[in-house]
Amino acid sequence: MSRELESLARGIARCRACRLWETRTHAVPGEGPAEADIMLVGEGPGEAEDLSGRPFVGRTGEFLNRFLAERGIERSELFITSSVKCRPPSNRDPKPDEIETCREKWLLPQIEAIRPRVILLAGKAAVRSLAGWTGALGKAREMAFTVGGVPALATYHPTAAMRFPKPRAGLAEDIERARELAIG
Ligand code: URA
Repeated sequence: MSRELESLARGIARCRACRLWETRTHAVPGEGPAEADIMLVGEGPGEAEDLSGRPFVGRTGEFLNRFLAERGIERSELFITSSVKCRPPSNRDPKPDEIETCREKWLLPQIEAIRPRVILLAGKAAVRSLAGWTGALGKAREMAFTVGGVPALATYHPTAAMRFPKPRAGLAEDIERARELAIG
């Protein structure tokens, strides 16, 4: 990780900018190469992530690792993080003010430090956070977003893809689109 990303990670670990710090075990800054071409932004840490301090290490993480590997992508090639860095209690949805605070303090600076070629906005929280879209995810997938000049693709959250065929097919398609943008 670059010095800038490491400094952001240290700040995230100590952050008390919203109420979520009160119930967390560990904040989860994210992980991956500072020069990653693809950045994946999920929703927020679950129990396994809260306990370990690492993103996508629970069941959804295992699914994501496999899903990427089946498409010839190693998880370690991506920078993986979430819209909020601390687990919402009982895995409730992150609230709009938590998403906004975390975006301004941490997520946008992370994107600025990495400058990926493409960002996958995985799930409603990421689409709200970085595209400002609160409508249907299916509709967002048809739209073109950019974050600070970086193309951003709305896609399904890996948890939905793990459970249901339609989001699974959609995520597969969007990973392919991201790969094409990253190569191009
Ligand atoms: N879901 C997310 O959105 N992020 C994680 O880190 C784990 C599960």
